[in-house]
Amino acid sequence: MAIQMIKVSIEAKDPGVGETFVKLVQLIGGMEILYPGDVVRPDLLIFELGDDVDEEFKAIRTLREAGAVGDFFLTSGNTDPDILMKAIKAGVTEFFSQPLVEEEVLESLRKFKRKFSEKSRHEIQKAGKIFHVLGGKGGVGTTTVAVNLAVSLAEQEENPSVVLVDLNMLYGEVPLFLSFEPLHDWSTISKNISRLDATYMMDILSAPYHGIRVLPAPNHLNGYYKPTADIIGHLLEFMRGMFDYVVVDGGQSLTDISLKGIEICDDVLLVSVLSLPCLANTNKIFKSFTDLGYFPRDRVKIIINRYMKNSDISIKDAEDSIDQKIFWTIPNDYHTTMAAINQGKPLKALEPKGIITKNFKMLADRLCQKEELPVRKEKKRWWGLSAN
Ligand SMILES: Nc1ncnc2c1ncn2[C@@H]1O[C@H](COP(=O)(O)OP(=O)(O)OP(=O)(O)O)[C@@H](O)[C@H]1O
Ligand SMILES: [Mg+2]
Repeated sequence: MAIQMIKVSIEAKDPGVGETFVKLVQLIGGMEILYPGDVVRPDLLIFELGDDVDEEFKAIRTLREAGAVGDFFLTSGNTDPDILMKAIKAGVTEFFSQPLVEEEVLESLRKFKRKFSEKSRHEIQKAGKIFHVLGGKGGVGTTTVAVNLAVSLAEQEENPSVVLVDLNMLYGEVPLFLSFEPLHDWSTISKNISRLDATYMMDILSAPYHGIRVLPAPNHLNGYYKPTADIIGHLLEFMRGMFDYVVVDGGQSLTDISLKGIEICDDVLLVSVLSLPCLANTNKIFKSFTDLGYFPRDRVKIIINRYMKNSDISIKDAEDSIDQKIFWTIPNDYHTTMAAINQGKPLKALEPKGIITKNFKMLADRLCQKEELPVRKEKKRWWGLSAN
């Protein structure tokens, strides 16, 4: 889970007072000071009262009622009991008389930080799983797997929340696969990453389609705007906090952004087909991830798509060449997968009882560890876990 920085705004009349608060907030750590013009809701506003106390208390009450600020710390050179009473009535958390006693301010900031992180822990309850679907080559079915896996995960009994993120810059096709017109994409969020909270995220994501929400890829270059890997990492971690499952269509890309997604995901689902060039690529990718200890071997799960039992290359050949068990096989069914793409529907909506649809349901169960590992029975269940 990403560490959430506490956003602090400091509004002081006296520059010396302002500087002292900035210094103390920085000493505490885990707090980010907002600057004038930042359109971000402060978790804490440290405010120095001026001469027009009544007006200022009115403003504080309005901000509080609107929920525009989390907590208030006040400070003033005037310690008239009437002001203290007004501060209490306005729901101010701390009042510091001047001159400031630094240890007192530090203690209050520490207390605030403790309370804030406890609250965040309760608010962010989910610790979702991220599956990064990566193609061993272009055109092997990465998007088909990502879309249909996401839909199958959402279908599970517990009704888990699922979001599908398309990381294919420019070539994202998820909206076509689910036939909807996206209003936003991840460039919108990454440009406003400091505004990222649960409400903003829900505004940006698509409405639920077949049980899943989608964050599409930008389909134009947006004035050369390029998000950094850290921004994408932050975005995915934030989603992990909101959803039970995050499925990423990573295409075949190994850019900084995709590598960040791969680094933080729980499992890479490496999609391949039983052809020599694709297996050779799959082998290179698998070895690059695992040989350097970048990834434990069991976190890179190889999925053979378009599996045909009588193919020239067998599952055993593939396993021998990569020196790794194949995790899953998806049957070859060009007719159904192509019809699903052309109609903009997931397989479940097109052929709810189809063999390939059931295969995705079983894959979802297996990834969530509900499926018992079957004994290899290639003859009877050629569409399923033939490789185990
Ligand atoms: N299990 C399958 N059986 C037969 N055909 C399949 C299967 N899965 C995908 N396909 C077909 O493969 C083609 C490519 O699928 P898809 O767009 O999902 O691949 P991709 O790897 O995401 O491609 P790209 O590299 O263009 O992003 C489609 O025509 C699709 O119908
Ligand atoms: Mg694709």
